[in-house]
Amino acid sequence: MARRHAALRQRGEGGAWCTVWVVEPEQKSWTSDFVAAMRAFYGELSPELDVATDPVALGMLSLKWLLPVKALSVPGVSRAVHWGLGHISLGLSCNVPLRTAAIDAALRRELAAGTRQLVILGAGLDARAYRLPELAEARVFEVDHPATSRVKERLVQGLTPLAREVRSIQVDFERDSLEEALREADFRAAEPSVWIWEGVTMYLTRSAQLATLGAIANQSAPGSALCMTYLPPWRGALRRVSYFALGKLGEPILGEIPREDVARALSERGFDVTHDTDGLDWAQRYWPASERSLVQVWERLAVARRRS
Ligand SMILES: C[S@@+](CC[C@H](N)C(=O)[O-])C[C@H]1O[C@@H](n2cnc3c(N)ncnc32)[C@H](O)[C@@H]1O
Repeated sequence: MARRHAALRQRGEGGAWCTVWVVEPEQKSWTSDFVAAMRAFYGELSPELDVATDPVALGMLSLKWLLPVKALSVPGVSRAVHWGLGHISLGLSCNVPLRTAAIDAALRRELAAGTRQLVILGAGLDARAYRLPELAEARVFEVDHPATSRVKERLVQGLTPLAREVRSIQVDFERDSLEEALREADFRAAEPSVWIWEGVTMYLTRSAQLATLGAIANQSAPGSALCMTYLPPWRGALRRVSYFALGKLGEPILGEIPREDVARALSERGFDVTHDTDGLDWAQRYWPASERSLVQVWERLAVARRRS
């Protein structure tokens, strides 16, 4: 999370200059802007690539994201940008719309089966409550760090949700009690729910990941479903460089999780993993064959169900 440290030069007691590290006020997550920008960009591409159709994303971007998205998505250029970005980012840019499409499909299945509560953990600029008509009967709880949650609340003012109700909950997964916050927001733990934890676990320490999983388990009625993405450990030098860059930009990767640990941690908390898929699986399902070579495996998506 953007808990930035800034170096200040100031004079110490003896008059000598020294460097002091201070914690700046917490900032809105820029990675939430990045993924919304990717969804907005793919929304401007041809329908065969726009698989996570998010017409709300564009309107939530600040100028510094909106202008490049608009400039790079003009016809004739956008296809080359899709390829260029895909190569430069080692396929990361392609993973965003694909993972959102895979989670949307899982969510739609749960809603069709009758679930009426959705909790989006680390919601960022997730616009599901404003773009999915299937949520018409559902209550949606959008949980995020206060710094990002406050900005999102401002951005959605004036939008009409397609969900029956949307509640915003401010929680820092590293410090606060998710369970308490949900109770205060009138979340109904006795009713089945769907939990979406998309693109978040890698920014959390292992203890925050496990505390959040514990809270999800305690608040999940039998039959509830969890869709969580996670980053297995990677050794490649290029990937390590990109992690280093993320750290420098204020949102370091703190929590890679091996696939077997995810299944074990979920099982110990009463969840059975029903699907565990990656970018190549999603591309196979949603993108034409001509585009699949761009995709590389980054995150995985575990879909799990709460045992009775
Ligand atoms: C890459 S963004 C993903 C946003 C959204 N899930 C999506 O896919 O569009 C990561 C999100 O995790 C949230 N996050 C990171 N660390 C957090 C923490 N300690 N507590 C609460 N939220 C956190 C950020 O605020 C941000 O919204």
